[in-house]
Amino acid sequence: MLEVRALVKEFGGLRAVDDVSFTLRANTITGLIGPNGAGKTTLFNMIAGVHRPDSGTIAFLGRSIGGLAPHRIFDEGLVRTFQIPRPFAAMTVLENCMLVPQRQAGEKFWNNWVARRRVREQERAVRERAREVLDFLGLGRLSGEFARNLSGGQQKLLELARVLMSEPRLILLDEPGAGVNPALLETIVDRLRELHERGIDFLVIEHNMDLIMSLCDPILVMANGRLLLEGSPEQVRNDPRVLEAYLGGVPA
Ligand SMILES: Nc1ncnc2c1ncn2[C@@H]1O[C@H](COP(=O)(O)OP(=O)(O)O)[C@@H](O)[C@H]1O
Ligand SMILES: [Mg+2]
Repeated sequence: MLEVRALVKEFGGLRAVDDVSFTLRANTITGLIGPNGAGKTTLFNMIAGVHRPDSGTIAFLGRSIGGLAPHRIFDEGLVRTFQIPRPFAAMTVLENCMLVPQRQAGEKFWNNWVARRRVREQERAVRERAREVLDFLGLGRLSGEFARNLSGGQQKLLELARVLMSEPRLILLDEPGAGVNPALLETIVDRLRELHERGIDFLVIEHNMDLIMSLCDPILVMANGRLLLEGSPEQVRNDPRVLEAYLGGVPA
């Protein structure tokens, strides 16, 4: 699914990501954990095309994507939540979903005036899909609500809804549980599992260990820009190096 080899990214003299390699197998929900500053977000940003790697390679479904622009990677079906612009506060939930660009499937820019009917049909299809996605996430009854009136957790669900509008194959989630109340968190986890059963894979950064341990297998652990280990929840829970990394400063 995703193959990362010897990835390096420096900021000034600091190696934020230092020679990281791993392979995401298809049909997995992979967790990515590590203390603050470990390099998790920087790694995400390179995979999503936000940062260009200093060196190393990234391949998605067998094609090299290292250094491609974010929209090109998006078109390949690999989507990171915040790649899609933030929701418009003064637009409704439904409108926000309908605004997400569809992945390019050979669209032509003159569609607008040559084939108005097709455009109308397309718009209807997008609207229908938006309703489906919102219903699936339990946001159906809020479709007419302005995005600014949603709670923090509902905003997270809207973010996920918008990602799903692009029909991704692999989703990078950066802290889906942050600021979400426990009840809604359960809904989110449940929906992620169901999406996974429908064929979408995930790479998830999350600080909530319960969430990571129950949702993800395998789990990657980063510390100081490096990949410390990869293992099952059980292995990660029982590896003393993980605790050391979180406590900080204890030499391995
Ligand atoms: N744009 C940037 N410019 C300079 N330093 C950065 C930048 N982004 C991240 N860093 C640094 O790189 C290191 C890794 O950061 P980050 O990837 O955000 O870690 P994490 O997401 O694991 O908390 C940190 O020391 C951070 O300060
Ligand atoms: Mg981060």
